[in-house]
Parts: sequence; C-alpha cells; structure tokens
Amino acid sequence: MDKRLKYEGKAKRVYEISEEDVYLVEFKDDATAFNGKKKGSIQGKGVINAKVSAHFFKLLEEQGVPTHFIEMVDDNSMKVKAVEIIPVEVVVRNIAAGSLAKRLGLEEGIHLKKPVLEFYYKSDELGDPMINIYHIRAMEFAKDEEMQKIEELSFKINDILADYLEKRDILLVDFKLEFGRYKGKVILADEISPDTCRFWDSKTKEKLDKDRFRRDLGGVEEAYQEVLKRVTEGGC
Ligand code: TMP
Ligand code: ASP
Repeated sequence: MDKRLKYEGKAKRVYEISEEDVYLVEFKDDATAFNGKKKGSIQGKGVINAKVSAHFFKLLEEQGVPTHFIEMVDDNSMKVKAVEIIPVEVVVRNIAAGSLAKRLGLEEGIHLKKPVLEFYYKSDELGDPMINIYHIRAMEFAKDEEMQKIEELSFKINDILADYLEKRDILLVDFKLEFGRYKGKVILADEISPDTCRFWDSKTKEKLDKDRFRRDLGGVEEAYQEVLKRVTEGGC
C-alpha cells in the first residue's frame, strides 16, 4: 500500500494513503508515561491496542456512536476516516484514581457518586494542561454545539463500555477520549485501549492497564493480553 507519514505520536503513526478521506493508523509497541519522560516498550502492545480499539469502535458504532473506524488492515493497523482532531482530550471518571485522587486527596478506588468529565488541552509541549469550557470557548478549540455533542457522546460511551466490561469482570475506572471533525460531524477518534483507560479486575482490583508500566508493577504484557482476551471473548 502506498503511504505517506502524516503524523507520528508517542504510540501511533498516522499515514495518508491513496484513498480519499482515509488515513491508515499504525499502533506501536513504544510506551511512554509522564509526558514522555519515562520511555519503554511493551511487547505486542501495538497489536493488542489495535484489536481492542477496533472491537470497542465496532461495539460503539452498533449502539449509535459514530467513530472514525473503517476496517483493520493487518494486526496492528486500521483504516480510519480522515478526521481533523479537536485538540481537547476528554477524560471520564467513575472511580477515583490517578491525577484525580492526587488532586482532591481521595483514596484510589472510591466510587464517585456521579461520573466526572474533565477536559485537557492536547499539547505535548505543555504536558496536556487541564482546561474548562471557558478556555475552550476563549481559545476557539471547539464550538459550543460540538462540545455539547462531545459531552453527550462521552457519557453514552461510558455507559456502553462500563456495562460491557462489567460482564467481563472488569471495572472501568476512567478513560481518555479524543474526537474529530469529519464532513461537518463530530465523531470519536484515536483509540480506546489499556493505554488510554484504567481497567481493574472486578474481584481482585488488580490493575490491567498502563498503570503497570507507569508504576513499574511488572506483568505489563500479561495484563494487556488479559484485557484483549476478556474484551474479545465470545467473538466480535
Ligand atoms: P490521569 O488520572 O493520569 O489524569 O488519567 C486519566 C485517564 O486518562 C487514565 O485512564 C489514563 C488516560 N490518560 C491518557 O490516555 N493519556 C494521558 O496522557 C494521560 C495523562 C492519561
Ligand atoms: N501518554 C502520556 C505520555 O507519554 C502519559 C500517560 O499515558 O501516562 O506522556
């Protein structure tokens, strides 16, 4: 396939291909944390994250959430709709962990009474600072109508994924989403994987996500494999 590198991020490469309005996204094994300060590699991560993301994108599409996913091309790459990424990262939280636990002095594992939505400005240079709707308006990162859609879709995605994962003995603690503009519509983009979500085993509370890498807990590859197995169990 003819491809031209358009953008290389920490975990993925995006290529332009000969098909109009289509990008090829290749998932890498490279892993970083703390805004790129910690670097490493997780064997098999590219394939697992591509497969888990594809599975979730299909599930979400079936339930009425528009996504950029078109089809898998090989084990670690997929064709996606060529969106213009909105530079706002959306974090949805169900259980206190990570930066929320730290910021508010909460014990990790406390179930929040209501899901929490947070926005971060997507900028590697600035380390993705937290922002709110007033910053988004002032900087014209997105229109109000787009942000309303993003909020509505984010809570819907949370309901669909939390319910799906609960049946597979996984707690959806929190996760990060990115959205893009495509032909005048806001659609879900980027990835949904153990890199961008916190997944805990429902019974043991064992971490099955990138926190194993961030916090040097060991068993990183095994945890990613376990997520793939549970998510895809019973077919697509
Ligand atoms: P946080 O608790 O560190 O703010 O992370 C919240 C969620 O967002 C967690 O599921 C991991 C995900 N996340 C990313 O996908 N990319 C990032 O750069 C960061 C900091 C978090
Ligand atoms: N993706 C982020 C980075 O490297 C951090 C993270 O996932 O914790 O910097």
